[in-house]
Amino acid sequence: MRINNAPSGEAISLRGISKAFGSVTVLKATELTVKKSEFLTLLGPSGSGKTTLLNLIAGAIAPSSGEILLSGRNITRLPPRDRGIGMVFQSYALMPHMTVFENVAYPLRARREPSETIRRKVLDALDRVGLKGFEDRKPRQLSGGQQQRVGIARCIVYSPDIIMMDEPLGALDKNLREQMQTEIKRLHHELGTTIIYVTHDQEEALNMSDRICLMKTGEIAQLGTPDELYFRPNSRFVAEFIGESNLLLGKITAVNRVSIDGAGLVHVPSSERALGSEVLVMVRPEKMQVSAAQADTLAGHNWLHGTVEGISFIGGMTRITVKTVQGVSVTAKLVSGPASTRPELGSEVKLSWSPAESVVLSA
Ligand SMILES: Nc1ncnc2c1ncn2[C@@H]1O[C@H](COP(=O)(O)OP(=O)(O)OP(=O)(O)O)[C@@H](O)[C@H]1O
Ligand SMILES: [Mg+2]
Repeated sequence: MRINNAPSGEAISLRGISKAFGSVTVLKATELTVKKSEFLTLLGPSGSGKTTLLNLIAGAIAPSSGEILLSGRNITRLPPRDRGIGMVFQSYALMPHMTVFENVAYPLRARREPSETIRRKVLDALDRVGLKGFEDRKPRQLSGGQQQRVGIARCIVYSPDIIMMDEPLGALDKNLREQMQTEIKRLHHELGTTIIYVTHDQEEALNMSDRICLMKTGEIAQLGTPDELYFRPNSRFVAEFIGESNLLLGKITAVNRVSIDGAGLVHVPSSERALGSEVLVMVRPEKMQVSAAQADTLAGHNWLHGTVEGISFIGGMTRITVKTVQGVSVTAKLVSGPASTRPELGSEVKLSWSPAESVVLSA
């Protein structure tokens, strides 16, 4: 068993890769390096180009421009079967008339491995995905989650250097999804394989990835660790796509001050933006504190006054929506306590937050 080494070295490098279908460019010239042993997730709305990017790497489609390097070797024109990249699909793509054993053995038979080796590798792969004893079943005798495990076993059985997964858990219900997320993470840890994973579920991406590549209409909006995308989004699109966010419109009045439209000055981390430029101050709802209107504010904290216009108890957290005097809606998320500890609907409150928790974005 290999222990998951920290990602290092280049597994795949895309240099100026683009794709047009006819006159429509669906992927603009893209630079992207995936490190060895890395778990990289392509995240983004429907139609943003995630599957196109995977298909280009797999060789299922040819790029309109650019080069693809695999461990430094140019594979742009190499046929898919010679790239050594495994694929796991959302639709499982199992062969219905074959047993689980034969489905998993398929890539090894195609490589003409000896039957004793095939037997050993197939049983090991099935064991790894928790399907020991299921060898003789047919796919239709399995649940969706079990079929997806067969799909994963068929991929890991021949130890590809890189595994790509396109929405592999898309067809599963929430509980099974979470269980499979944990199992895929464990497999990644055990095998140390480079994984390129596609999802449009931001929580899945945050939970599983070393880095996330967030796509927006055929280009990379931001590439970074889950922490970087969540705490340091580089744009309104990223702030809104990942997690919840409050976006307060204002103008820069000093290196670390913003005048929020109608609501006065707030302190923000220093930026090099021009004085007078329009910006959005982004604050995550769980960083907002809610207190009585007359309560003291912690030294140096920003604050706004408003009226509670909505309270929703969502289990562990309670979401409070406050309308400021100027009509801006701001959301705070608090760890839930008994009903008596929550502010009342219609009451006046003070919202406050630390300047360090603000991110200044272009308006
Ligand atoms: N063969 C094709 N011919 C023309 N346009 C295509 C083709 N394949 C994909 N597209 C277009 O390219 C864009 C990106 O598609 P892609 O399948 O990469 O999106 P995606 O991010 O995987 O979306 P989803 O989350 O819905 O799977 C879409 O606008 C799509 O309509
Ligand atoms: Mg897709």
